[in-house]
Amino acid sequence: MSVSNQQIADLTKDATEAANLILEHIENGDVIHVSSHVDADGISAGGIMGKALLRAGAMFRLRLERWMDEKVADRIAEENAALTIFTDMGSGYLDLLGERLAKKDVIILDHHQPVAEAPSSFVQVNPHTHGIDGTRDISGSGVAYFAAKALDKKNIDLACLAVVGALGDLQDKNKERKLGGVNKVIVQDAVKSGFLEVETDLMFFGRETRPIHQALARTTNPFIPEISGEEDKSLAFLVNLGIKPKRNDTWRALRDLSSDEKKTLLSAIADHLVSKGLGGDIVSDLVGDVYTLTTEEPWTPLRDAREFSVLLNATGRMDKAGLGAAICMGDRKKCLEQATQVIQDYRGTITRYLRWVTEKPERLEEMESIYVVRGDGFIDEKVLSPVCTILSTTLTQLGKPIIAYATISGEDQVKISSRGSEPLIQKGLNLGDIMQFAAEKYSGRGGGHDVAAGAQVPIKNVEAFLKLVNDSVKKQLAGEQIGN
Ligand code: C5P
Ligand code: ZN
Repeated sequence: MSVSNQQIADLTKDATEAANLILEHIENGDVIHVSSHVDADGISAGGIMGKALLRAGAMFRLRLERWMDEKVADRIAEENAALTIFTDMGSGYLDLLGERLAKKDVIILDHHQPVAEAPSSFVQVNPHTHGIDGTRDISGSGVAYFAAKALDKKNIDLACLAVVGALGDLQDKNKERKLGGVNKVIVQDAVKSGFLEVETDLMFFGRETRPIHQALARTTNPFIPEISGEEDKSLAFLVNLGIKPKRNDTWRALRDLSSDEKKTLLSAIADHLVSKGLGGDIVSDLVGDVYTLTTEEPWTPLRDAREFSVLLNATGRMDKAGLGAAICMGDRKKCLEQATQVIQDYRGTITRYLRWVTEKPERLEEMESIYVVRGDGFIDEKVLSPVCTILSTTLTQLGKPIIAYATISGEDQVKISSRGSEPLIQKGLNLGDIMQFAAEKYSGRGGGHDVAAGAQVPIKNVEAFLKLVNDSVKKQLAGEQIGN
């Protein structure tokens, strides 16, 4: 969607109000509490805010939260900070936060759909309040970047982190695989600052630095059965096509392929997808804008912005979000070594679960209007969300949203993730509304974006919840209101 200059000016005005409040508290010598979401966008957002506060000489603590609920909101309220800043979270829980923090200074830098009016003491910067699409046109880290830039123009070097965050939230999930809307302005800032380069090409991971079969195996958007996560099979696939993986004794990288070889590879992947019962045209997802962080070392996972976002996601999912935030704030060496190990563990875990789901057709259970993956007892709830995202990248052709759930250890709750597709959104699907409505009906909490949303509900209510989700999807796609 295109965004007008007026909308950007409105967002900037709110961000400036937030920045002024932050400066006031810094001058008072207050300790500022920052809470951010634990996914790639949330970690980037927290990193941007953390770095901006550090530069401004603020005293602050940064905490990365798995989700928001009564317990978390109570804990944050007990911290009794003079100023609490929420990044990439908050707008979906204005009711909860309003009850507990109404008398405090609170800043919300978020892109989730606001569920209620913000109390007058809150400064909320949110694209939705200006008619900007928070799902595609700007992410939580983008909003945090606007506030950071309003704090100090020098923070323009943090724009590339907002690009990483937006890609982490799949805001490039369009035909051209390109960031648009307000993100375009952020990309321009990042390029202007000298930290980012953009070009259109094949988007396999590590296209400059890895042997082709490894780059192929690391690519999960779209998820290509028997290639994603499978280096040996990827190598065999290339050899079968007559694409030489080595020149002399050296592995070739994707950049070494001729344009004919690239075409051969793409059309073979399309055929392969069709042979797996999937639409060959999702292969177009493999061509798009490539965002390169030019000051990062070429052989690190930080060089390609999409790979950077996967690294952050991995740290978040594997309980090492602090490591991700430290990298965003500039730590390298030891932190990067540790994060590289985390990402390997994470890839292994996800590949195992994806194999589990795809090896038996009944594990992707078809209901009238949705697909359900019952991961309870098998999928670790911490990686449910990326597993669901990766599955959804191949399911666009199936024409129904996917809902996956897993048990939360130590609690009698399940975590639910849901993902839709662009054509379904065009027909009226809004998973954020459905997750919120169905979870609240069954003693849980839910919310999120039209295309990606989540919930937590008591285990005993899962069946009823799924049935209501199924009915609600059917209603929305028929143009009816849910809840009637
Ligand atoms: O957890 P998952 O990645 O599936 O969530 C998808 C989106 O839904 C995220 O943006 C998340 O913040 C949001 N969400 C929410 N409320 C929940 C669970 C998820 O707003 N209870
Ligand atoms: Zn986000």
